[in-house]
Amino acid sequence: MSERPPRVVPALAPGTRGLRRDPALVALSREHHGVLVRALDLKRAAQRPAGDPAVVAAARAFLATWEAEMRGHFADEEQELLPAARGFDPEGVRRIADEHREMEALAASLATALVRGDDLRPVCAELGPLLDDHVRYEERAFYETLQRHLGAEQLARIGQALEARRAERGVSACPAPPSPPAR
Ligand SMILES: [Fe+2]
Ligand SMILES: [Fe+2]
Repeated sequence: MSERPPRVVPALAPGTRGLRRDPALVALSREHHGVLVRALDLKRAAQRPAGDPAVVAAARAFLATWEAEMRGHFADEEQELLPAARGFDPEGVRRIADEHREMEALAASLATALVRGDDLRPVCAELGPLLDDHVRYEERAFYETLQRHLGAEQLARIGQALEARRAERGVSACPAPPSPPAR
């Protein structure tokens, strides 16, 4: 279906244990964890035999996350991050916007295939790897570039704008980490 060149996902530098995320971007990065789980589900579903109920389960779980979180996450990135990065990373901005459109189209195809009872695996086989590569690209390249180029004040402003957007749609921004067990 696609004839574009393969997507490049940068590797982490040797010895890197984890990427340090600016507080402004922490909530988006946390949301990425959930997205990666759905991506793995879809990739596994694509390998399952036809008619395996786990394929339908993976598609339903993806679509639930899509509606509840991912649509808003994409809009947050497009409204707050992409305009800020246009001046120093036009290629990254283009890639992210293009991949968002592509994933929207695939999510719509998956929903249609589910309603029709079609084989879901071909869509899972496209969407799972795209989702996975997209998130890794954002974490390893795009968010890192943003943090390098934007000043602390600008990042803080973006963080506030993101919080306001999340509050508006009733999504908790940064769930507090679980408290330690009582002794
Ligand atoms: Fe994105
Ligand atoms: Fe993202």
